[in-house]
Amino acid sequence: MSKVITIAQQKGGSGKTTIAANLATVFSLKNNLHTTILDTDPQGSLGKWFMMRLEKLKDKNTIQFKTASLWGAQYEAKTLKEKSDIIIIDTPPKIDADGRPVIQIADLVIIPISPSQVDFWATESIIELAKREKKEILILINRANAKSKLIQEAIKFVKDMNVSSAKTILGNRQIFVSSMGMGLTAVEKQRTGKGRLEILSLAKEVRTILNI
Ligand SMILES: Nc1ncnc2c1ncn2[C@@H]1O[C@H](COP(=O)(O)OP(=O)(O)OP(=O)(O)O)[C@@H](O)[C@H]1O
Ligand SMILES: [Mg+2]
Repeated sequence: MSKVITIAQQKGGSGKTTIAANLATVFSLKNNLHTTILDTDPQGSLGKWFMMRLEKLKDKNTIQFKTASLWGAQYEAKTLKEKSDIIIIDTPPKIDADGRPVIQIADLVIIPISPSQVDFWATESIIELAKREKKEILILINRANAKSKLIQEAIKFVKDMNVSSAKTILGNRQIFVSSMGMGLTAVEKQRTGKGRLEILSLAKEVRTILNI
């Protein structure tokens, strides 16, 4: 059965688009899942990444890409479910009640947070929204500096909010930035390396949760 992952976070720049592209690539290339990205962000960053990807890979690209408005995404995702094993919805920052449709359609809501107090404050409302819709939530600590004490604070924040967090923590790594700029992702640019390993490990965790 087809599954929908929504990546959401009020705070801009928390890594939603980067995580959407990186997870989609692993599901498609490594797990042979028919994967569609649905971009609901009018900024269109994922679309730009995808266009660059098509130019680079031509018919070797295996990921499908669609856009929709926040309110139209629920209908679009339902239609896409017929031909996708997995649909990843990227969302704009600052979503509020207008984000309800993309939360409602989700089997899993991934909420990226940087280990920073400002991100913790910004995250509470999206957690509440997903909780009200009784959705499975996975907080994902992104752009972490392994030596920073803030990681422990992020873990404490997640515990206090009574939600689950991914065992995988994504480091603050240049490979995530540089690969996206080429229409690619960490697993395509690194044969070995921490960025690659982190994304593979995250994708495995997500597949276990979704049972796919
Ligand atoms: N793990 C990481 N390590 C280093 N840089 C990262 C990481 N994750 C994201 N970035 C960088 O942080 C910036 C913001 O990331 P991204 O665009 O994915 O966030 P976003 O949540 O989609 O932003 P927006 O809210 O504007 O849509 C980008 O420049 C991206 O390359
Ligand atoms: Mg984005």
